[in-house]
Formats: sequence, structure tokens, C-alpha cells
Amino acid sequence: MEKYLIKGGRPLKGEVSVSGAKNAALAVLPAALLSGDICKIENVPVVEDIRVLLEAIEDLGVKVNYENNGHTVIMDCRNIEKLVVDYKHINKIRASYYLLGSLLGAYNFSKVALPGGCNIGARPIDQHIKGFKSLGAEVDIKHGMVQVSADKLVGSTVYLDSPSVGATINIMMAACKAEGQTEIENPAKEPHIVDVANFLNSMGANIKGAGTDVIKIKGVSEMHGSEYMIIPDMIEAGTYMVAAAISKGDVTVKNLIPKHMDAVVAKLKEMDVKVEEFGDSLRVYYEEEYKNTHVKTLPYPGFPTDMQPQFVALMSMVSGVGLMTESIFESRFSYTSELRRMGADIKVEGNTAIVTGVDGFTGAEVKATDLRAGAALVLAGLAARGDTVISDIYNIDRGYEHLEEKIKGLGGWIARIDDEKVGLKVVGD
Ligand code: UD1
Repeated sequence: MEKYLIKGGRPLKGEVSVSGAKNAALAVLPAALLSGDICKIENVPVVEDIRVLLEAIEDLGVKVNYENNGHTVIMDCRNIEKLVVDYKHINKIRASYYLLGSLLGAYNFSKVALPGGCNIGARPIDQHIKGFKSLGAEVDIKHGMVQVSADKLVGSTVYLDSPSVGATINIMMAACKAEGQTEIENPAKEPHIVDVANFLNSMGANIKGAGTDVIKIKGVSEMHGSEYMIIPDMIEAGTYMVAAAISKGDVTVKNLIPKHMDAVVAKLKEMDVKVEEFGDSLRVYYEEEYKNTHVKTLPYPGFPTDMQPQFVALMSMVSGVGLMTESIFESRFSYTSELRRMGADIKVEGNTAIVTGVDGFTGAEVKATDLRAGAALVLAGLAARGDTVISDIYNIDRGYEHLEEKIKGLGGWIARIDDEKVGLKVVGD
């Protein structure tokens, strides 16, 4: 089992470029199936979740070719042989559920293993199912598989109880070729919702209002192949911004969309972290002592839940008491016990973490319990005195492209190790 070894205490300095958005790519690649044609998708992040998804897509009969070191994916979707996605491909990634909506929209049938993914709460798919049913589909869940089928799909109005990202995208995809008009009320507004809608429109769909309170989809009879470039990853960008802040460094994060970063920037500024905007870059640097703050996660344009663990790591290093309230997922604080092993003072009460700033972390052996928890531990390790060893880093590989190279490029010390092979001993400071 590989682990990360991080030698902390070096301020990160320089420039880092953001990769394509993992969560957009996880939806755009399945959406290409609706074309029944050839699609060329650029700026695809080379991360484990995408590799697993593309393996599942290939198993359906799609011919997948790569260019540009895997960042450009060419999918020939003209000869789909199978509408069933087995558990073996998908048990690790939650976004398997996008194949439900895209295959249903394209072929009126799909059968997909129930999703896995990060273990951060119950994560039901009732809103997805409600959407499929309202388009006229029958939904059957048996033996760990969800089967969705319809003689024909007919547009309708779907009100989402909560603005679910996954349900919004799934319903958009299923409704593209339905008869008549579909309206999604109370949809999610995340940037990748807009990205997927733009991609679907580039393939001939007729979607209006993505990113607003109502999405309207007029069914079309034909869709076609397209070339498309995925947006930058706002969570990866935010993670490097916090890396700059927590290491008291000076980093310019390039190739992002500043508007997507508004909530993160607002909170960093509230903490007295310096942030400056230059075109599609943000410079984040330390100038004066930070102060603690209160944060609540909310659907976009609120503060993203996927930045919650990284921010708690930062807040832990800042004097005073900070509060982090998680309003999206019910059990997203399991990583706090790992941060405590590094010296953090965090108490969790209900859906709020009470963070009392400490005078620095000390390196320790810790475990990446999920993707963003892993990112938070990397940040804590970069700021800690001494060595940190992070296990279960497959969770980090799921969503961060070339993490070691990017951190090394900023002057951080991180290595991928196999501790059984090298007989590593962790040293403190
Ligand atoms: C997506 C992101 C994830 C991010 C999350 C919230 C992907 C692949 N993952 O996850 O990184 O943390 O958005 O921004 O894009 N819910 C229901 N019923 C449903 C669907 C959701 O009750 O049918 C609840 C969930 O349990 C959760 C909330 O709604 O409490 C939001 O979930 P949702 O927006 O659907 O998240 P995901 O699409 O799973």
C-alpha cells in the first residue's frame, strides 16, 4: 500500500495550474453517450475516478481513444452493445449514477450498480428516481442494481426537495430526447451543472436556464457528436489556495474561473489571507497573522462542502475559535480525529465543528478517510513540524491530478512511498 510522506514547514511559493474539473468530467463523459456519435472531450483530468468511469464506458461498447497524455478523450459512441453497468466497474465511484440518466435518455433503458464513492453520509438517490419516474420511467431496485426503463419518455415538471447536483444532471440528461418540455425546479446551480448543459447543447440538446432557479429542457429527436472543453476544477483550485495560506506561502493559482471561487475567496479574505485576482489567476499569500472565522457549507454559490475539510485544517492553525457548520452531508467530520492526531483542537457537536486554533501541527501517521479529507491531511502535513505519513492515499488519487508534482513545483516536500519496502521510520521534530 502506497503512502505519502510529507516533510512540513516549507512555505509554498510559485505558480500552479489547475486541471479540468473532475465532477464536471464525471458527468460530461457519460453525457457523450447521448450523441450516438463521436465526441472529443478536452481538459479531462487524469485521475482515478475518471479512469474507472472510462473503463465502465468502454465495457458498454464505446471505443475510447486518448490524446494529449490522457487529457483529451475521444469517445466513439456509435455502437453501444450493452446498457448494463456492472458493480465490478463502479463500486468505487458514486458518479456511476450518471450512466443511469444518459443511457435512459439515449436508449430508454439502463441498469447500473448502486453507487459507491466517498463515505460522507447516507447519500440517497431518491431525487434522481423521482425525476426518472416523472418522465414516465419505471424504476426497479434489486440485487444492488437500479434498473430504469420506459417505452417512451415524456417531459414533465420535477421539483427537487433539495438542490442535488447528481439528480439535476441526471434529469437533464434523461430529458434531452424526451417528448415535450421538462422543467427542473429548485435545481443545483454548481458550475458543473452549467458545463454539462453547455456540452449537451453542443450535441444538439435544447436546455435553457442551467445555473438559475429553473432549468427548461425542450426534447429534441436527434443529437450529434461534438468537441468540448471541460471547465477548470474549482475544488482543486481552492485546495491549492488553502495550501498557500496554511503554509504561509505565496502561490498564484492559474487557469481557474475567479467567479467560481467567490465563496472561498470571501472566507480567506475574512481570515486576513491576502488574495489578488489577475485574469484567470488568483494569487494567495501570507502577510499578517490570520484570524479565525465561521463558515457554513451551502449549495453553490454558497461555500462548497468539498472545501470543508481543507478549511478546517487551515482554521485549526489560526488563533481564536472558528466554527464550521456542514449543511450538505451528515457525516463529513470523520477526518477531524486524524487532524487531532496532528495536534488540532476540534470538537464536533452535531453538524458543527468547533475549531480552537493551536500553535501549529506536528507530523503524525494519519489516514485519508475520503478524498477531501485526504486533501486536508496533505495541507496539514505541509504546515506541520516534522514528518507526516498519510495512508489510504488511493482516496486522494481519485480526484487530484499529479498532486506530488504540483506540490513539489511549489517547493513542498512530498513523496509517494511504500513503507514496507523502504522500512520507513517516522521522525518527529
Ligand atoms: C456532488 C459532488 C460532490 C459534492 C456534492 C455537493 C460529484 C460527482 N460529486 O455529489 O463532490 O460534495 O455534489 O456539492 O459531482 N440527496 C438526497 N437525495 C438524492 C440526492 C441527494 O437526499 O436523491 C442529498 C444528499 O444526501 C446530500 C445533498 O442532497 O445531503 C446533496 O447531494 P448531491 O448534491 O446530490 O451530491 P452528489 O451529486 O452526490
